[in-house]
Amino acid sequence: MAVIFSGVQPSGTITLGNYLGAMKNFTSYQNEHECYFCIVNQHAITVPQEPEQLRKNSRNLAALYLAIGLDPDKVTLFIQSEVAEHTKLGWIMTTLATIGELERMTQYKDKAQRHGNGDSIPAGLLTYPPLMAADILLYQTDYVPVGDDQRQHIEITRDLAQRFNSRYGEAFKLPAIHTREVGARIMSLQEPKKKMSKSDANSLATPYLLDEPETILKKIKRAQTDSENKIYYDREGKAGISNLMAIYSLITDKSTDEIEQLYEGKGYGQFKNDLAEAIIETTRPIQKRYYEFVHSDYLDQILTAGAAKAARKAAATLNKVEYLMGLSRNC
Ligand code: TYM
Repeated sequence: MAVIFSGVQPSGTITLGNYLGAMKNFTSYQNEHECYFCIVNQHAITVPQEPEQLRKNSRNLAALYLAIGLDPDKVTLFIQSEVAEHTKLGWIMTTLATIGELERMTQYKDKAQRHGNGDSIPAGLLTYPPLMAADILLYQTDYVPVGDDQRQHIEITRDLAQRFNSRYGEAFKLPAIHTREVGARIMSLQEPKKKMSKSDANSLATPYLLDEPETILKKIKRAQTDSENKIYYDREGKAGISNLMAIYSLITDKSTDEIEQLYEGKGYGQFKNDLAEAIIETTRPIQKRYYEFVHSDYLDQILTAGAAKAARKAAATLNKVEYLMGLSRNC
């Protein structure tokens, strides 16, 4: 039984990119593997958050994890800040990392650029990857299902684990990334050469999992395409249509070849209508379950039990690490 770990930030609404690139995949592991799914609220505070909103977003995300089909009897679902081992190992991982390798992270460079100079870049943005490494390594994880934008973070996790193991002795398993072949990078509906992102200023660029049907229809209808009016997959030449085909493929489990055949001789109008319909049909039951879970005490019971279970496994790894490093008095 392999160990699976992944996390999502509770930094607002969840996008169709989050769902199709990562979360939808989570449910496929739960019957056969030991799964940990985390609401990474300590990663979210690397940029300022409004406290009440953060509290609410964390719980909302937990409800969404359940609504997409995760079964709390099979997976461990928990909030990062409720398992103290994450920040403890996070600090240890920070001491193993170098400023140079952290500054070379593309996500750091992108985010830092938006903040201007060093006096306004939060230091947590720089030390984000060692905390993420800690999340993963605490559970002796085999596979991390994520979108392609997390690849560099998984690579540095492996580097830090290896560095620890060779300096102090074997404590960590080296995790591998799991991405989807189609869908590892869902693109913006408005600028299809740019990744779909929660923080896009143009609301038409990003369908959210909790969007109303009319909003989904509007966003898909207004999605950027080209003037050829022919449906075939060409990521470079037809970025807009190829992105919509990738979304359609993930939603309906049809290959891009099948979609091409299905829409031969048909135009973008019909394709977009069908796609919007397919998204609405997928999100409708998720939304229904979400609103049931979000108002239930059951959700809190699951999170409390999840944190206790996660902490047991995390403590075993941390104890070993602290012993090997000379931080604890006994084994
Ligand atoms: P976050 O919260 O930004 O995104 C959650 C998941 O959604 C994927 N994703 C996408 N996939 C395809 N296309 C897109 N446009 C797209 N946008 C987002 C992300 O790759 C991710 O899998 N650093 C992580 C959270 C994290 C984590 C971890 C993940 C913290 N610790 C440990 C795995 C393991 C992040 O910010 O994800």
